[in-house]
Amino acid sequence: MRAVLGVLVVLVVALVALAAWLYSGSYDISARGPASPVLDKVADLAKRQSVRAHAQHIDAPPLADPILVEDGARHYRDSCVQCHGAPGAEAQPFARFMRPAPPDLTKDTGWTPAQLFWITQNGLKMTGMPAYRDLLVDGQIWALVAFLDQLPKMDAARYHSLTVPPAPPQPEPVPGGEQDVVPPAEGEEPAQPAPPPAETPAQPETPAQPEAPR
Ligand code: HEC
Repeated sequence: MRAVLGVLVVLVVALVALAAWLYSGSYDISARGPASPVLDKVADLAKRQSVRAHAQHIDAPPLADPILVEDGARHYRDSCVQCHGAPGAEAQPFARFMRPAPPDLTKDTGWTPAQLFWITQNGLKMTGMPAYRDLLVDGQIWALVAFLDQLPKMDAARYHSLTVPPAPPQPEPVPGGEQDVVPPAEGEEPAQPAPPPAETPAQPETPAQPEAPR
């Protein structure tokens, strides 16, 4: 009985001390503050267990389809590379100053496809990892997972080919430029802009200038 009472007293004292510390504002919440190894361990444990529990009833569809990977690569380029980077594509500078830092997804993260789906769909609280549930439909998130599955095996050339569309065909430059403007047909008003510029504004009723090209 005495031992139980002793443990309770220690627990209450510890809780009061924790509350006093939190209320004092001593904890450095800034993203520049020193690393907190204990808090980081607790957060990591919470993340791991929570993701495992929440993703356990999700069944992943087949993800090997190259079309799915291509689709996922484009979503990754539009929504993820800014924080996570990719082969040959750096993350935005701000990502270097985030705490926790966005992990490098080109290394095997150890998450299963179902867990990757859940993380992308729901985000991770207090980390800056957004929830994409209301931005992307399930099929698009599975495409992202198919891409993430391939990402550790991808080099910069492959990532580039998947995410940079081929340049659209350029319109042919008009040979000769302005000189090729079609002269107005007989009896027609000169086209706008008038070729070549007349000395005086053209009179509607006067015949075309003799030197006008035909
Ligand atoms: C604004 C920055 C930001 C964007 C944009 C972002 N993430 Fe994240 N993401 C993070 C951060 C920060 C973490 C780290 C969470 C942590 O440490 O627990 C993270 C974690 C993850 C993880 C877990 C990795 C691990 O090893 O624990 C996955 C998977 C992930 N992001 C996928 C994505 C995908 C897919 C997209 C795009 C659809 C995306 N993220 C967009 C910031 C971002």
